[in-house]
Amino acid sequence: MSHYFENDLNLKSEIKELSYKYNSSFFTFYSDNGVFSKKSIDYGSRLLLETYLSDEKRNLKVLDVGCGYGFIGIVISIINNSYVDMIDVNKRAVHLTKRNIKKYDSFKGSVFLSDAYENIHDKYDVIITNPPIRVGKVKVLEILEQAFDHMNENGVLYFVIRKDQGALSIKKILESTRKVEIINKDKGYFVLRAKNL
Ligand SMILES: C[S@@+](CC[C@H](N)C(=O)[O-])C[C@H]1O[C@@H](n2cnc3c(N)ncnc32)[C@H](O)[C@@H]1O
Repeated sequence: MSHYFENDLNLKSEIKELSYKYNSSFFTFYSDNGVFSKKSIDYGSRLLLETYLSDEKRNLKVLDVGCGYGFIGIVISIINNSYVDMIDVNKRAVHLTKRNIKKYDSFKGSVFLSDAYENIHDKYDVIITNPPIRVGKVKVLEILEQAFDHMNENGVLYFVIRKDQGALSIKKILESTRKVEIINKDKGYFVLRAKNL
């Protein structure tokens, strides 16, 4: 069986359209087989996004790591008038995000393939991620710890992890070098914010 983070180009396409409402703004997203949470928007991603929107300023430069079909990054760009780059290792996810971006004239940013930060050359004010827990803790920690190499000095990292997927142990590891706070929790999902000490 293929996992959503693999590049299985033989996987049959079955495009679906998912909808999302934030205050008075309506969004739709194409999703497909072979991408994360293809049938409905993930609850953890929603909690992360909505916590972020209530916490962060507008007009920032943001990187969405592991963007899937672009849910988090597209909404941030439009609602918070921010420039958002989105990356994923999954070609189908990048392709869907490109299609989804085209629906929104006011979207500012880009999407491209990248295994973690390998194709990232800019610095960001914010990095946000619902990390790929299923690929394992080593990759998740790489994404979270290396985020600080790709942000400005005052950059802020936002991420979501379920308690039963190791949120507290990951918090503890990051806390050896950063200030890490749990800024929201619901239904077993923890939203965390990390900054330089
Ligand atoms: C939990 S999903 C979140 C997807 C999307 N942000 C959302 O909220 O629906 C994690 C994403 O990370 C991607 N991913 C897995 N390994 C990766 C890697 N090494 N570098 C970049 N993205 C990766 C997966 O393809 C997947 O789209």
